[in-house]
Amino acid sequence: MRILSGIQPTGRFHWGNYFGAIQQYVNLQGNPDDAFYFIANLHALTTVRDKARLQQNMLDAVLDLLGLGLDPEKATLFIQSDVPEVSELTWLLMTVTPMGLLERCHAYKEKKARGLTADTGLFAYPVLMAADILVYDSDLVPVGEDQIQHVEVARDIASSFNYLFGETFVLPKANVLDTSAKVPGTDGAKMSKSYNNTLTVFEEVKVQRKKIMRIVTDSRPMEDAKDPETDPLYLLYKLFASASQQKEMADLYWKGGFGYGQIKKALADISEAFFAEARERRAQYESNPSLVREILAEGAARARKKAAEVLRRAQDACGVNLPKK
Ligand code: ADP
Ligand code: TRP
Repeated sequence: MRILSGIQPTGRFHWGNYFGAIQQYVNLQGNPDDAFYFIANLHALTTVRDKARLQQNMLDAVLDLLGLGLDPEKATLFIQSDVPEVSELTWLLMTVTPMGLLERCHAYKEKKARGLTADTGLFAYPVLMAADILVYDSDLVPVGEDQIQHVEVARDIASSFNYLFGETFVLPKANVLDTSAKVPGTDGAKMSKSYNNTLTVFEEVKVQRKKIMRIVTDSRPMEDAKDPETDPLYLLYKLFASASQQKEMADLYWKGGFGYGQIKKALADISEAFFAEARERRAQYESNPSLVREILAEGAARARKKAAEVLRRAQDACGVNLPKK
């Protein structure tokens, strides 16, 4: 079974990215021929228009993923554009994708609703994503909740192609962890780069601690009880805590007699400990850039081999290749 996912290098990864997507990548890895993960630099081009920044983001994304536990012995890690077959397949898929299907996709719809002009790249973004998924015969796509729609679009496009040209593509399924469906940000809204409310995974410990201590809370008196599930601080703490730690903290909320400063400190402590090993691993990879390049080159070669096979199958199916003599 092939597991595949991509993540955009549009900024440093935050807790929402980790608990919504990256943690699943790590849990699902095992054999590099089965688990494919890539840095979606072609998708990032629809928002990052600065060469140096895009390049830096790509390197950071690779180091972050390796630090967080993607293991090149257990997964194939590569850069999206190192597999040009994906772009070629995108065109074949575009020819069977109805405009209406893309008009309903949220990234484009939201931009249009805000009165902004969208370029063709943003409009066709889900087709490129479908090519990413289909070109490796992917069965399972671990993503956060907001990407389910795009995986369904990939399925629709694959079905249209199969219907028109005969069985060609595997129909993929999204894999979402419901426990971490929506990680809240420092303002209580969904954590997202676009909302400026993120806690990034590898932020300097001292800086992050300060950020956590500054999270705005309500003015509830110390002695009052509170439903923990309504407090973003508790929801964040829960992501890192064991079942017994969660229960202990929830009991404290229900009893009352605590201040938010105390919860913030517990959150800073537990998150720091949780990511300590990842921080060390990231630093090791960062000090060995040639190893990182080697990992990416090997990953791309393995991914390309599969992509070439599937692209050929699609080309043969729709007739762009002359018949074999
Ligand atoms: P951002 O919203 O910060 O730009 P992306 O859209 O690049 O993040 O998301 C990358 C991955 O992380 C996706 O699979 C997405 O569903 C997941 N993700 C992002 N933010 C969250 C969140 N707050 N909670 C859970 N998953 C998230
Ligand atoms: N669109 C995804 C995101 O913004 C990234 C992505 C690109 C992706 N291609 C993919 C995710 C293929 C899963 C499978 O998060």
